Amino acid sequence: MAITKIKSPAFHITGETGWINDPNGLIYYKGQYHAFYQHHPYDTKWGPMHWGHVVSDDLTNWKYLPIALIPGDEFDKNGCFSGSAIVHGGKLWLMYTGFIENQGGESIRQIQCLAESDDGVTFKKHGTVIGSELLPEGYAPEDFRDPKIWRHNDCFWCIVAAKRKGGRGRILMYKSKDLFKWEFVGDLFGVDSAGAMIECPDYNEELGYLLFCEQFQPNEGNIHLNVHTCRWCIGKIDYEAGTFKEESRGIVDYGFDVYAPQTFVGKDVIMGWLNMWDRNVPSEKYGFSGMLTVPRTVTLKNGILYQEPVVSCENAVKTEGTGTLRDNVVTGVITVKATSLEALELKLRSNGTNYTKLTLKDGEWVFDRSKSGEEIKGVEKDADSLNGIRRMIHSGSKETTLTIVMDEFSVEIFEGGRALTSTIYPPHGADTLELNVKADTWQYEKADIALKA
Ligand code: FRU
Repeated sequence: MAITKIKSPAFHITGETGWINDPNGLIYYKGQYHAFYQHHPYDTKWGPMHWGHVVSDDLTNWKYLPIALIPGDEFDKNGCFSGSAIVHGGKLWLMYTGFIENQGGESIRQIQCLAESDDGVTFKKHGTVIGSELLPEGYAPEDFRDPKIWRHNDCFWCIVAAKRKGGRGRILMYKSKDLFKWEFVGDLFGVDSAGAMIECPDYNEELGYLLFCEQFQPNEGNIHLNVHTCRWCIGKIDYEAGTFKEESRGIVDYGFDVYAPQTFVGKDVIMGWLNMWDRNVPSEKYGFSGMLTVPRTVTLKNGILYQEPVVSCENAVKTEGTGTLRDNVVTGVITVKATSLEALELKLRSNGTNYTKLTLKDGEWVFDRSKSGEEIKGVEKDADSLNGIRRMIHSGSKETTLTIVMDEFSVEIFEGGRALTSTIYPPHGADTLELNVKADTWQYEKADIALKA
């Protein structure tokens, strides 16, 4: 079935048409940033997974390339699931999960496959390189996916999400000298995750952190309120022991809509899926479902993972803050810089009846999308979520910088290194912004996104 996209975000990555989920294979190759993503081009619902492909010079302007991986071979019969990329011998290599299901659509086998390209556009598949026979005794062949590959010393290393039969999520590590022959090294945590299954593990060797998602993970106080969530763990892999020495952990995003973040190879920048499983996606009627977050620079400070958006901006206009500030903005980056910030109320994408609200009250940011526009419904765990509310602690620092990346269907809110990201679907014409701030001094800045024609 052919579908047509009739509307899209201005600068967030979506599929050319149809459905997308996780970012895959984020890498710099032959002078361009490459981003792949889980993609079903023929429907706005998840289906047989392809790898969609875009490239960029500046991490802001993205251009479509042909679909990189199409399922249907014996080893990826029902889907080319998530994975990662590496440059080796001048070629671009993709490692991904081949998905095989039974007649009833249930997973029976997930195996790790390899593909290569020497132009970064067309890929040749090599088939299975880590099959079920490389699973240690007692692990489930139907839940073994999302390889993340990197190089350390003179070996390639790869972590893969897995599960013990009847158990919960694990992360297994493998090594190889040549990308084709792999051997099992260890089970990184050696214990089950809190969530039912781990997905999309990612490791940044240079900074020393793991990212991973947990399906059906129980909430921890007022964090991890999404049914499926993602966390960072700062620490280092012990390559000899095949284990991970954890120093601290936290949540990747406080909003409704981030999943499966992955780090660009060799760059401390991550991107995630800007959407969530198990909720309706109102943009289906425009011919697309799912986007990727803007790239975010990651730094580690005092045992915490900080994120800041990477977007190229232009035409920045600054205003000194007094009284109530009104503006009109649908897409762009707005920044509020304040000293001794005590309270703030911001309405975005407002037409009076519909708006998205952010309030700083008693040291906490409260985000409310209950009146944003079209209803987003799904499986939720608590009253806040049912009411369209998410909370994020304020950094408490004397100088606050609040940055909001706004696009047609999303807001990404950053303060003190934390991020709160959500989709919104406001009605046409809801473009007013209203800001009230209580602080010693404050400034408002608005910038356009530098989009090339
Ligand atoms: C995470 C995930 C991965 C899998 C992919 C399938 O969102 O479930 O574990 O590889 O999506 O599209």
